[in-house]
Amino acid sequence: MANDKLKRIGILTGGGDCPGLNAVIRSVAKAAMSGGLEVIGIADGYLGLIENRLHTMTMREVSGILTQGGTILGSCNKADPSNYAVRVGDKWQHRDVRDQVVANYHQAGLDAMVVIGGDGTMAGAAQLVQRGLKIVGVPKTIDNDLWATEITFGHDSAVATASDALDKVHTTASSHHRVMVVELMGRYAGWLALHAGLASGADVILIPEIPFDLEKVAHKCAARRAIGKGFTIIAVGEGAKPLGGDLFVNHIVKDSPDPVRLGGIGKFVANAVEDMTGLDSRTIVLGHVQRGGTPTAFDRILATQFGYHAFQLLMAGEFNRMVAMQAGRIDSVCIDEVAGKVRTVPADSPTVAAARSLGTSFGD
Ligand code: F6P
Repeated sequence: MANDKLKRIGILTGGGDCPGLNAVIRSVAKAAMSGGLEVIGIADGYLGLIENRLHTMTMREVSGILTQGGTILGSCNKADPSNYAVRVGDKWQHRDVRDQVVANYHQAGLDAMVVIGGDGTMAGAAQLVQRGLKIVGVPKTIDNDLWATEITFGHDSAVATASDALDKVHTTASSHHRVMVVELMGRYAGWLALHAGLASGADVILIPEIPFDLEKVAHKCAARRAIGKGFTIIAVGEGAKPLGGDLFVNHIVKDSPDPVRLGGIGKFVANAVEDMTGLDSRTIVLGHVQRGGTPTAFDRILATQFGYHAFQLLMAGEFNRMVAMQAGRIDSVCIDEVAGKVRTVPADSPTVAAARSLGTSFGD
Protein backbone atom coordinates (compact mmCIF):
# COMPACT_ATOMS: atom_id res chain seq x y z
CA MET A 1 0.00 0.00 0.00
CA ALA A 2 1.53 3.32 -0.94
CA ASN A 3 0.92 6.79 0.36
CA ASP A 4 3.26 9.22 -1.37
CA LYS A 5 2.29 12.00 1.02
CA LEU A 6 3.93 10.29 3.98
CA LYS A 7 7.70 10.59 4.17
CA ARG A 8 8.41 10.80 7.86
CA ILE A 9 6.40 9.45 10.80
CA GLY A 10 6.90 9.69 14.55
CA ILE A 11 6.30 7.05 17.22
CA LEU A 12 5.84 7.58 20.94
CA THR A 13 4.84 5.43 23.89
CA GLY A 14 2.90 7.19 26.65
CA GLY A 15 1.51 6.27 30.07
CA GLY A 16 2.62 3.34 32.21
CA ASP A 17 4.90 0.85 30.50
CA CYS A 18 3.62 -2.62 29.75
CA PRO A 19 4.74 -5.76 27.95
CA GLY A 20 4.25 -5.53 24.19
CA LEU A 21 5.16 -1.86 23.63
CA ASN A 22 8.35 -2.83 21.86
CA ALA A 23 6.47 -5.33 19.72
CA VAL A 24 4.24 -2.49 18.45
CA ILE A 25 7.22 -0.17 17.88
CA ARG A 26 8.91 -2.95 15.89
CA SER A 27 5.81 -3.71 13.89
CA VAL A 28 5.13 -0.08 12.88
CA ALA A 29 8.78 0.85 12.34
CA LYS A 30 9.76 -2.19 10.27
CA ALA A 31 6.73 -1.81 8.00
CA ALA A 32 7.38 1.90 7.59
CA MET A 33 11.14 1.57 7.00
CA SER A 34 10.60 -1.24 4.52
CA GLY A 35 8.20 1.08 2.69
CA GLY A 36 10.89 3.77 2.48
CA LEU A 37 9.59 6.00 5.25
CA GLU A 38 11.77 7.67 7.83
CA VAL A 39 10.77 6.82 11.40
CA ILE A 40 11.37 9.29 14.21
CA GLY A 41 11.44 7.94 17.75
CA ILE A 42 10.08 10.36 20.34
CA ALA A 43 11.53 9.86 23.82
CA ASP A 44 9.36 9.47 26.93
CA GLY A 45 5.91 9.97 25.41
CA TYR A 46 4.59 13.51 25.03
CA LEU A 47 7.45 14.73 27.24
CA GLY A 48 9.88 14.12 24.37
CA LEU A 49 7.68 16.13 22.04
CA ILE A 50 7.48 18.96 24.59
CA GLU A 51 11.25 18.93 25.14
CA ASN A 52 12.08 18.17 21.51
CA ARG A 53 13.89 14.90 22.17
CA LEU A 54 13.56 13.06 18.87
CA HIS A 55 15.85 10.86 16.82
CA THR A 56 15.82 8.94 13.56
CA MET A 57 15.32 5.26 14.26
CA THR A 58 17.23 2.53 12.47
CA MET A 59 16.28 -0.99 11.43
CA ARG A 60 18.95 -2.24 13.79
CA GLU A 61 17.38 -0.41 16.73
CA VAL A 62 14.01 -2.06 16.18
CA SER A 63 15.40 -5.56 15.61
CA GLY A 64 15.55 -8.06 18.45
CA ILE A 65 13.08 -6.15 20.65
CA LEU A 66 10.00 -8.31 20.19
CA THR A 67 10.50 -10.15 23.45
CA GLN A 68 11.73 -7.20 25.51
CA GLY A 69 9.42 -5.75 28.16
CA GLY A 70 9.06 -2.00 28.66
CA THR A 71 9.72 0.41 25.83
CA ILE A 72 12.97 1.28 24.07
CA LEU A 73 11.59 4.81 23.59
CA GLY A 74 10.90 5.43 27.28
CA SER A 75 7.54 6.55 28.60
CA CYS A 76 5.97 9.09 30.92
CA ASN A 77 2.53 9.16 32.53
CA LYS A 78 2.71 12.80 33.58
CA ALA A 79 3.28 14.94 30.49
CA ASP A 80 -0.17 16.00 29.29
CA PRO A 81 0.54 18.83 26.78
CA SER A 82 -2.66 20.69 27.74
CA ASN A 83 -1.94 20.45 31.46
CA TYR A 84 1.82 20.13 31.82
CA ALA A 85 3.18 20.49 35.36
CA VAL A 86 6.26 22.67 35.81
CA ARG A 87 8.03 23.03 39.15
CA VAL A 88 8.36 26.69 40.12
CA GLY A 89 10.09 27.08 43.50
CA ASP A 90 8.34 24.63 45.80
CA LYS A 91 5.08 24.63 43.83
CA TRP A 92 3.74 22.99 40.69
CA GLN A 93 2.29 25.21 37.96
CA HIS A 94 0.18 23.73 35.20
CA ARG A 95 0.68 25.05 31.67
CA ASP A 96 -0.81 24.48 28.25
CA VAL A 97 2.19 23.63 26.03
CA ARG A 98 0.27 22.36 23.01
CA ASP A 99 1.65 25.15 20.79
CA GLN A 100 5.18 24.02 21.64
CA VAL A 101 4.29 20.40 20.82
CA VAL A 102 2.73 21.38 17.49
CA ALA A 103 5.78 23.52 16.65
CA ASN A 104 8.20 20.68 17.46
CA TYR A 105 6.13 18.21 15.41
CA HIS A 106 6.31 20.51 12.36
CA GLN A 107 9.94 21.42 12.93
CA ALA A 108 10.80 17.71 12.88
CA GLY A 109 9.00 17.43 9.54
CA LEU A 110 6.59 14.80 10.79
CA ASP A 111 3.77 13.93 8.41
CA ALA A 112 1.97 11.75 10.93
CA MET A 113 2.49 10.09 14.29
CA VAL A 114 1.63 6.78 15.99
CA VAL A 115 0.91 7.16 19.69
CA ILE A 116 0.86 3.98 21.74
CA GLY A 117 -0.83 4.38 25.11
CA GLY A 118 -3.85 4.25 27.37
CA ASP A 119 -6.67 6.69 28.08
CA GLY A 120 -4.42 9.62 29.05
CA THR A 121 -2.36 9.23 25.89
CA MET A 122 -5.49 9.00 23.73
CA ALA A 123 -6.99 12.07 25.44
CA GLY A 124 -3.76 13.95 24.67
CA ALA A 125 -3.91 12.72 21.07
CA ALA A 126 -7.51 13.90 20.67
CA GLN A 127 -6.45 17.40 21.70
CA LEU A 128 -3.49 17.45 19.32
CA VAL A 129 -5.67 16.24 16.45
CA GLN A 130 -7.74 19.40 17.02
CA ARG A 131 -4.55 21.35 16.37
CA GLY A 132 -4.09 19.64 13.02
CA LEU A 133 -1.68 16.83 13.89
CA LYS A 134 -2.21 13.54 12.06
CA ILE A 135 -2.33 10.77 14.63
CA VAL A 136 -3.14 7.07 14.82
CA GLY A 137 -3.47 5.53 18.30
CA VAL A 138 -2.65 2.01 19.47
CA PRO A 139 -4.32 0.90 22.74
CA LYS A 140 -2.13 -0.44 25.54
CA THR A 141 -2.64 -1.06 29.22
CA ILE A 142 -2.36 -3.94 31.62
CA ASP A 143 -5.68 -2.74 33.08
CA ASN A 144 -7.65 -3.59 29.90
CA ASP A 145 -9.92 -0.64 30.71
CA LEU A 146 -9.69 1.32 27.47
CA TRP A 147 -12.99 2.28 25.94
CA ALA A 148 -14.06 0.87 22.56
CA THR A 149 -11.60 -2.01 22.42
CA GLU A 150 -12.31 -5.48 23.78
CA ILE A 151 -8.66 -6.02 24.60
CA THR A 152 -5.47 -4.05 25.02
CA PHE A 153 -2.06 -5.61 24.61
CA GLY A 154 -0.17 -5.98 27.89
CA HIS A 155 -3.19 -7.30 29.76
CA ASP A 156 -2.56 -10.94 28.95
CA SER A 157 1.06 -10.68 30.14
CA ALA A 158 0.00 -9.01 33.39
CA VAL A 159 -2.64 -11.70 33.94
CA ALA A 160 0.04 -14.37 33.40
CA THR A 161 2.35 -12.72 35.94
CA ALA A 162 -0.43 -12.17 38.48
CA SER A 163 -1.81 -15.69 38.16
CA ASP A 164 1.68 -17.11 38.54
CA ALA A 165 1.98 -15.17 41.81
CA LEU A 166 -1.45 -16.36 42.95
CA ASP A 167 -0.46 -19.96 42.13
CA LYS A 168 2.73 -19.62 44.17
CA VAL A 169 0.94 -18.11 47.13
CA HIS A 170 -1.07 -21.34 47.40
CA THR A 171 2.04 -23.03 48.81
CA THR A 172 2.29 -20.95 51.97
CA ALA A 173 -1.49 -20.61 52.21
CA SER A 174 -1.96 -24.37 52.36
CA SER A 175 1.13 -25.15 54.45
CA HIS A 176 0.27 -22.56 57.09
CA HIS A 177 -3.54 -22.71 56.80
CA ARG A 178 -3.70 -19.02 56.10
CA VAL A 179 -5.83 -16.47 54.32
CA MET A 180 -3.62 -14.91 51.64
CA VAL A 181 -4.82 -11.64 50.14
CA VAL A 182 -3.12 -10.66 46.88
CA GLU A 183 -3.67 -7.02 45.82
CA LEU A 184 -3.56 -6.52 42.07
CA MET A 185 -3.43 -3.42 39.88
CA GLY A 186 -6.17 -2.39 37.44
CA ARG A 187 -7.28 1.03 38.72
CA TYR A 188 -11.05 1.45 38.53
CA ALA A 189 -11.65 -1.72 36.49
CA GLY A 190 -11.51 -5.28 37.78
CA TRP A 191 -10.33 -7.11 34.64
CA LEU A 192 -6.89 -7.97 35.97
CA ALA A 193 -8.12 -9.29 39.34
CA LEU A 194 -11.01 -11.11 37.66
CA HIS A 195 -8.92 -12.82 34.98
CA ALA A 196 -5.94 -13.64 37.21
CA GLY A 197 -8.25 -14.76 39.99
CA LEU A 198 -10.18 -17.06 37.69
CA ALA A 199 -7.00 -18.41 36.08
CA SER A 200 -5.61 -19.40 39.49
CA GLY A 201 -8.78 -20.57 41.15
CA ALA A 202 -8.90 -17.80 43.75
CA ASP A 203 -11.63 -18.49 46.32
CA VAL A 204 -12.63 -14.84 46.59
CA ILE A 205 -12.30 -12.18 43.89
CA LEU A 206 -12.96 -8.57 44.83
CA ILE A 207 -13.31 -6.03 42.02
CA PRO A 208 -14.31 -2.35 41.85
CA GLU A 209 -17.51 -3.11 39.95
CA ILE A 210 -18.91 -5.27 42.79
CA PRO A 211 -18.72 -3.56 46.20
CA PHE A 212 -18.14 -6.25 48.79
CA ASP A 213 -19.51 -7.04 52.22
CA LEU A 214 -16.68 -7.83 54.64
CA GLU A 215 -18.95 -10.14 56.65
CA LYS A 216 -19.50 -12.25 53.54
CA VAL A 217 -15.79 -12.39 52.75
CA ALA A 218 -15.01 -13.45 56.32
CA HIS A 219 -17.85 -15.98 56.24
CA LYS A 220 -16.42 -17.55 53.06
CA CYS A 221 -13.00 -17.98 54.71
CA ALA A 222 -14.53 -19.45 57.88
CA ALA A 223 -16.83 -21.75 55.87
CA ARG A 224 -13.86 -23.11 53.92
CA ARG A 225 -12.06 -23.84 57.18
CA ALA A 226 -15.19 -25.54 58.55
CA ILE A 227 -15.26 -28.02 55.64
CA GLY A 228 -11.58 -28.82 56.01
CA LYS A 229 -10.15 -26.38 53.45
CA GLY A 230 -7.48 -24.86 55.57
CA PHE A 231 -6.74 -21.83 53.46
CA THR A 232 -8.35 -19.13 51.35
CA ILE A 233 -6.87 -17.16 48.46
CA ILE A 234 -8.33 -13.70 47.90
CA ALA A 235 -7.51 -11.75 44.71
CA VAL A 236 -8.41 -8.09 45.21
CA GLY A 237 -8.23 -5.34 42.61
CA GLU A 238 -6.69 -2.12 43.94
CA GLY A 239 -9.91 -0.23 43.13
CA ALA A 240 -12.22 -2.59 45.05
CA LYS A 241 -14.33 -1.01 47.80
CA PRO A 242 -16.31 -2.31 50.74
CA LEU A 243 -20.05 -1.60 50.56
CA GLY A 244 -20.61 2.05 51.42
CA GLY A 245 -16.85 2.59 51.71
CA ASP A 246 -14.33 4.62 49.75
CA LEU A 247 -11.44 3.83 47.44
CA PHE A 248 -8.09 3.19 49.12
CA VAL A 249 -5.62 5.84 47.98
CA ASN A 250 -1.94 5.05 48.48
CA HIS A 251 -0.27 8.06 46.95
CA ILE A 252 -0.94 11.40 45.24
CA VAL A 253 1.41 12.20 42.35
CA LYS A 254 1.19 15.99 42.36
CA ASP A 255 2.57 16.59 38.87
CA SER A 256 0.40 13.96 37.20
CA PRO A 257 -2.76 14.86 35.25
CA ASP A 258 -4.29 11.76 36.87
CA PRO A 259 -2.73 12.10 40.35
CA VAL A 260 -4.45 9.36 42.37
CA ARG A 261 -2.54 6.10 42.87
CA LEU A 262 -4.62 3.40 44.52
CA GLY A 263 -3.44 0.90 47.10
CA GLY A 264 -4.11 -0.42 50.58
CA ILE A 265 -7.30 -2.40 50.08
CA GLY A 266 -5.43 -5.73 50.40
CA LYS A 267 -4.13 -4.95 53.88
CA PHE A 268 -7.53 -3.66 54.93
CA VAL A 269 -9.22 -6.90 53.85
CA ALA A 270 -6.56 -9.15 55.42
CA ASN A 271 -6.71 -7.29 58.77
CA ALA A 272 -10.51 -7.31 58.81
CA VAL A 273 -10.74 -11.03 57.96
CA GLU A 274 -8.20 -11.89 60.66
CA ASP A 275 -10.11 -9.83 63.23
CA MET A 276 -13.48 -11.31 62.27
CA THR A 277 -12.44 -14.97 61.97
CA GLY A 278 -9.24 -15.39 63.95
CA LEU A 279 -7.65 -16.93 60.84
CA ASP A 280 -4.01 -16.03 60.24
CA SER A 281 -3.98 -13.63 57.26
CA ARG A 282 -1.29 -12.04 55.10
CA THR A 283 -1.19 -9.50 52.26
CA ILE A 284 0.94 -9.45 49.13
CA VAL A 285 0.93 -6.33 46.95
CA LEU A 286 2.15 -7.31 43.49
CA GLY A 287 2.53 -3.74 42.22
CA HIS A 288 4.72 -2.99 39.21
CA VAL A 289 5.88 -6.60 38.91
CA GLN A 290 2.64 -6.95 36.92
CA ARG A 291 3.92 -4.51 34.30
CA GLY A 292 7.30 -6.17 33.93
CA GLY A 293 8.92 -8.89 31.92
CA THR A 294 8.59 -10.31 28.46
CA PRO A 295 5.18 -10.23 26.73
CA THR A 296 3.28 -13.48 26.41
CA ALA A 297 3.01 -15.02 22.96
CA PHE A 298 -0.59 -13.77 22.85
CA ASP A 299 0.53 -10.17 23.51
CA ARG A 300 3.38 -10.41 20.99
CA ILE A 301 0.89 -11.45 18.31
CA LEU A 302 -1.72 -8.87 19.33
CA ALA A 303 0.83 -6.04 19.54
CA THR A 304 2.27 -6.97 16.14
CA GLN A 305 -1.19 -7.04 14.58
CA PHE A 306 -2.14 -3.73 16.22
CA GLY A 307 1.07 -2.15 14.92
CA TYR A 308 0.46 -3.47 11.43
CA HIS A 309 -3.10 -2.15 11.48
CA ALA A 310 -1.88 1.26 12.70
CA PHE A 311 0.53 1.40 9.78
CA GLN A 312 -2.25 0.49 7.35
CA LEU A 313 -4.39 3.32 8.75
CA LEU A 314 -1.49 5.73 8.24
CA MET A 315 -1.02 4.57 4.66
CA ALA A 316 -4.73 4.89 3.96
CA GLY A 317 -4.66 8.46 5.31
CA GLU A 318 -7.12 7.50 8.06
CA PHE A 319 -6.00 9.72 10.92
CA ASN A 320 -7.61 10.52 14.28
CA ARG A 321 -8.29 6.79 14.66
CA MET A 322 -7.37 4.33 17.40
CA VAL A 323 -6.85 0.68 16.53
CA ALA A 324 -9.47 -1.37 18.38
CA MET A 325 -10.59 -4.97 18.77
CA GLN A 326 -14.31 -5.12 18.18
CA ALA A 327 -16.36 -8.31 18.00
CA GLY A 328 -13.08 -10.21 17.77
CA ARG A 329 -11.84 -8.27 14.70
CA ILE A 330 -9.15 -5.63 14.52
CA ASP A 331 -10.78 -2.38 13.46
CA SER A 332 -10.50 1.26 14.47
CA VAL A 333 -12.53 3.94 16.21
CA CYS A 334 -12.35 7.72 16.36
CA ILE A 335 -9.84 8.74 19.05
CA ASP A 336 -12.34 11.27 20.47
CA GLU A 337 -14.65 8.40 21.30
CA VAL A 338 -12.11 6.91 23.71
CA ALA A 339 -10.96 9.90 25.75
CA GLY A 340 -12.22 10.24 29.29
CA LYS A 341 -14.04 6.89 29.46
CA VAL A 342 -13.30 3.69 31.38
CA ARG A 343 -14.35 0.23 30.24
CA THR A 344 -15.31 -1.68 33.36
CA VAL A 345 -16.44 -5.27 33.93
CA PRO A 346 -20.15 -5.33 33.02
CA ALA A 347 -22.77 -6.47 35.51
CA ASP A 348 -23.72 -9.38 33.25
CA SER A 349 -20.11 -10.50 32.66
CA PRO A 350 -20.01 -14.17 31.58
CA THR A 351 -16.61 -14.46 33.27
CA VAL A 352 -18.09 -13.40 36.61
CA ALA A 353 -20.96 -15.84 36.06
CA ALA A 354 -18.52 -18.68 35.31
CA ALA A 355 -16.52 -17.91 38.46
CA ARG A 356 -19.68 -17.81 40.57
CA SER A 357 -20.73 -21.20 39.20
CA LEU A 358 -17.50 -22.63 40.64
CA GLY A 359 -18.31 -21.25 44.08
CA THR A 360 -16.00 -18.22 43.84
CA SER A 361 -17.20 -15.44 46.10
CA PHE A 362 -17.30 -11.81 44.98
CA GLY A 363 -18.14 -10.76 48.52
CA ASP A 364 -21.67 -9.72 47.58
O1 F6P B 1 -2.56 1.95 34.37
C1 F6P B 1 -1.55 1.05 34.67
C2 F6P B 1 -1.22 1.08 36.14
O2 F6P B 1 -0.23 0.11 36.39
C3 F6P B 1 -2.42 0.88 37.07
O3 F6P B 1 -2.85 -0.45 37.16
C4 F6P B 1 -1.88 1.45 38.36
O4 F6P B 1 -2.90 1.89 39.18
C5 F6P B 1 -1.03 2.61 37.87
O5 F6P B 1 -0.71 2.34 36.52
C6 F6P B 1 0.23 2.83 38.65
O6 F6P B 1 0.86 3.97 38.17
P1 F6P B 1 2.36 4.39 38.53
O7 F6P B 1 3.27 3.62 37.61
O8 F6P B 1 2.39 5.86 38.26
O9 F6P B 1 2.60 4.03 39.96
